[in-house]
Amino acid sequence: MIDTVRKPTLILGGTGKTGRRLADRLTAQGLPVRIGSRSGTPPFDWENNTTWEPALDGVGAVYISYYPDLAVPGAAEAVGAFARLAVERGVRRLVLLSGRGETEAQRAEVMLKASGADWTILRCAWFAQNFSESFLLDPLLAGEVALPVGNVGEPFVDAEDIADAAVTVLTRQGHIGQLYELTGPRLLSFAEAVAEIGKAAGRNIGFKQISHAEFAAAIAAHALPAEFAWLLNELFTEVLDGRNEVLADGVERVLGRAPRDFSAYAIETAATGIWSN
Ligand SMILES: NC(=O)c1ccc[n+]([C@@H]2O[C@H](COP(=O)([O-])OP(=O)(O)OC[C@H]3O[C@@H](n4cnc5c(N)ncnc54)[C@H](OP(=O)(O)O)[C@@H]3O)[C@@H](O)[C@H]2O)c1
Repeated sequence: MIDTVRKPTLILGGTGKTGRRLADRLTAQGLPVRIGSRSGTPPFDWENNTTWEPALDGVGAVYISYYPDLAVPGAAEAVGAFARLAVERGVRRLVLLSGRGETEAQRAEVMLKASGADWTILRCAWFAQNFSESFLLDPLLAGEVALPVGNVGEPFVDAEDIADAAVTVLTRQGHIGQLYELTGPRLLSFAEAVAEIGKAAGRNIGFKQISHAEFAAAIAAHALPAEFAWLLNELFTEVLDGRNEVLADGVERVLGRAPRDFSAYAIETAATGIWSN
């Protein structure tokens, strides 16, 4: 166990998909955590940099999960400014949750490294949990997922593996200055992922490829915040063009075991009843 985790670890996005799982794991090991989010104590808000310093007070390390997404313009500057402030305040151990094949995310990584921090980067594929804890849940419940994406393969990674990796890099020696690409063990198209979920949930759930214009119209009809609509369009047009159709060995390198398969995620999540209607 390394010393920085004897003080609280500040977990940004600590109630979100990976942060919540990381907080649970550290707490289960008896290690102190501080949730860094708008509902945390003290509150942390990426949109209000006067909240950053109080959140850093007395912590030993930070897990940086940006919101809403590192692909958003200005995210890299915010992460860079936060990392510089942390180092200035003596909090050198910073672990960044990053995304694959995203120009802006890779710029955030550069800014993190330039801050002088003892950094580790977890550069992740699409999370499997987007199907159960995010924008894909509603269409799954409605029985059809319509996205502007065809047969491109994505190695969906399980947030449980990301949280396991985050615990290891934060609590064990040897991970400073390392970049790990975390993916699942196989490529699936979105149609295949939806089919696996349908099978696991015992329901008929369809998948339809639609045009970008149809997707934009559907987003507008759901009155999503403009920023979120922009983000979804960016992810489906820029990032899902085949650039990430390759498996990486980050889970194996950090955890010494294979990543969890999407079907395990689908079966376990279906058993919670979340996809039943
Ligand atoms: N989702 C993916 O497939 C994926 C893949 C690769 C990388 N990533 C990266 O992972 C990061 C997190 O994405 P996610 O989808 O997993 O989100 P998430 O962590 O599930 O987002 C929710 C969390 O963000 C907090 N939050 C919301 N607005 C905030 C604000 N203004 N300031 C501070 N905290 C705020 C929420 O708490 P409160 O509501 O209490 O503030 C909650 O803890 C992003 O930077 C993204 O680039 C995501």
